Amino acid sequence: MADRLSAGSPRPVRLNDKTQSIMDRAIAREQSLSHLLMTYIATGVVFMLLPGTFLGVWNLIKISSREAAESISPAWIQAHGHAQLFGWVGTFILGIGFYSIPKLRKLKPFALWSAWLTWALWVVGVAVRWFSDIYPWHWRIALPLSASLELAAFLIFFQAVASHRPSSGSAKPLEPWIFVVIAATLGLLASLTLNLGASFQLAVNAGSPAFPHMFDQRYLIVSTWGFIVPMVWGFSARWLPVFMGLRPLRNSLLLVALAFNILGVVLGFLEYFFAAGIFLLLGASTVIAAIRLFEPAVKPAKTVNIHQSFPVFIRIAYGWLLVAAALSIWAALAGAAPGIWGASRHALTVGFIAAMIFSVGQRILPSFCGMRVLWSPRLMLVMLVLLMSGCTLRVASEVLAYQDYANWAWNILPISALIELTAVTLFSINLIVTFARPPVVAASPLTMTTE
Ligand code: HEM
Repeated sequence: MADRLSAGSPRPVRLNDKTQSIMDRAIAREQSLSHLLMTYIATGVVFMLLPGTFLGVWNLIKISSREAAESISPAWIQAHGHAQLFGWVGTFILGIGFYSIPKLRKLKPFALWSAWLTWALWVVGVAVRWFSDIYPWHWRIALPLSASLELAAFLIFFQAVASHRPSSGSAKPLEPWIFVVIAATLGLLASLTLNLGASFQLAVNAGSPAFPHMFDQRYLIVSTWGFIVPMVWGFSARWLPVFMGLRPLRNSLLLVALAFNILGVVLGFLEYFFAAGIFLLLGASTVIAAIRLFEPAVKPAKTVNIHQSFPVFIRIAYGWLLVAAALSIWAALAGAAPGIWGASRHALTVGFIAAMIFSVGQRILPSFCGMRVLWSPRLMLVMLVLLMSGCTLRVASEVLAYQDYANWAWNILPISALIELTAVTLFSINLIVTFARPPVVAASPLTMTTE
């Protein structure tokens, strides 16, 4: 072989050409995947900023000025909630799922057109839902149409990332974090199916596009605790031990946490809110023990190119998860308690979900999106401090004001909303400037990694 190579026969040239062409195709695919992911992320940012956060701030300012939680239309509140959970978080998760799941599981590549079709159906579905809640123009058609488009988008995503066999041929047993991601994906399927059923039901029988209050409460438990929370746990279990230098994951505890959480979601959906809260708290505590988040790290955290406070904010976010579950138990005991339910919901959505996405997102997205480097680690610190301060003010003053414990707390709520809005805007600026700047290394399958 060595002789043939040195004898200058055409064989090595043909071999090199073949290798080169495989490399070229792999690089082209990597670039297409990065481009796809950047589109999903930019779309999620748009949903987060305007239909999501801006409308949330508007709603809160109106509620505070009237000093009455029930003074604004439920459809407007639900428009905000849907834009945040599905327009922002859902779009991020679909994009990151398309980019990372086939790589992490070493699956055969999916057809890129399916990811673009998913994006188009999902964006139209979520946007139509928002408009039909805000301007109920032909909502009896728009609402079921949007729910059908969202479900169709999900099914294409699922088919693309879940049904391709491993490329190596030797199927490895699934790791426990993958079970958690699968459970979360089923939670998303359940949320979208409930959404579709309720949308048809409303279109035929109701006088407004807003979900009835009790159904909405149950549906929100499925779409937050049943979908987003385990999705964050799954990726936390996969990435945090490496990013934070933690001790090895306790895999069996991770599955116990998932079982507690599923039980909590099912009980919540069946309106056993107290028992649900207990199991959600058990699940949250167990996942923290499984990932060993509060145990001393054994290696230095990998914080190159991001702010070194990253591990602190991850721990604070998991602290908010515990607070959210504990508040849901208090809300269940207190009966009709919109302030405590609202505080629990935002401890979860802002304190845990947004903080996790903002921290881990700034850690992984720049490199996933074409080997870029985060524009400003200092801005990352400022926005996380603002987010956590806004969340603390919001959660505390929502209980005090809505539950009539302290009238002065109504004046704090708009301030908390503006602080959170600033944090969200800074995150968007940091990410968009990062995407607009040239990559530090040319995209290559050898340099791209999901860690
Ligand atoms: C600037 C930040 C935010 C503000 C000012 C805000 C404001 C509000 C307001 C006023 C409500 C009405 C109920 C209540 O008073 O508690 C609400 C509900 C809700 N928010 Fe937020 N929010 C913000 C961030 C978020 C984030 C980041 C998420 C999700 C990731 C989220 C998800 C929800 C959900 C799911 C609901 C319940 C919707 C429903 O009843 O169907 N919010 N928000």
